[in-house]
Amino acid sequence: MVKLGERVTIAMDGPAGSGKSTVARKVAEKLGLLYLDSGAMYRAVTVLAIQHKTQTNMVKLIELVKACEITFDDNGKKIFLNSADVSDQIRTPEVNRLVADIAKVPEIRTEIVRHQQKIGADGGIIAEGRDLTTVVFPHADFKIYLDASMQERAKRRFAELQSQNVDTTLETVENEIKTRDEKDTSREHSPLRPAEDATRVDTTGKTIDEVVDFIVKIVGK
Ligand code: C5P
Repeated sequence: MVKLGERVTIAMDGPAGSGKSTVARKVAEKLGLLYLDSGAMYRAVTVLAIQHKTQTNMVKLIELVKACEITFDDNGKKIFLNSADVSDQIRTPEVNRLVADIAKVPEIRTEIVRHQQKIGADGGIIAEGRDLTTVVFPHADFKIYLDASMQERAKRRFAELQSQNVDTTLETVENEIKTRDEKDTSREHSPLRPAEDATRVDTTGKTIDEVVDFIVKIVGK
């Protein structure tokens, strides 16, 4: 159990639609922690690639990533790429389709991971993504692996996209998630996998608040 006043690090991983961002955001609010959405950073890099038309030119993209600045505001709700707010741009279907192929490039991961470790250097943070428990913060105080059934994850993503007026179908969303999961779990560098010492939480059929309360209880505050 962590004592009051200690600056904890909570690392959380899981596949697309497992509820990581919503849960982590709420835990951050409840415990007064910094929230780090690591996926947003790979998405911002994808926006950078689209802007410079370097989606397939990784040598050029790596150079651009080394020179770019990615910052957050409003405790992770807003993300800026070279001072421009790209919070909406990072959620487009085009970015969804491209991001996993860009995130698998080792040189890009090295840059982004270094940045994430700097953000979390003083603790007091909940960070979520695909390799937070295994690579970015392997010594985190708490490690959580969130999961949910494919059907439920697709339904959640579909509802989210509908609320953004994105014209799509449940089947398209399910296929997109399956393809992305397959790429994220089978890549050579930092694939998505549960850390051995992570607490596994299946969020299927659970409300956000139930999962949040469970994690807050684990942290012991
Ligand atoms: O979490 P989110 O769905 O926004 O992540 C988008 C993509 O970014 C993932 O599908 C994955 O390819 C990549 N990612 C990653 N490592 C992380 C977080 C996200 O490779 N820590």
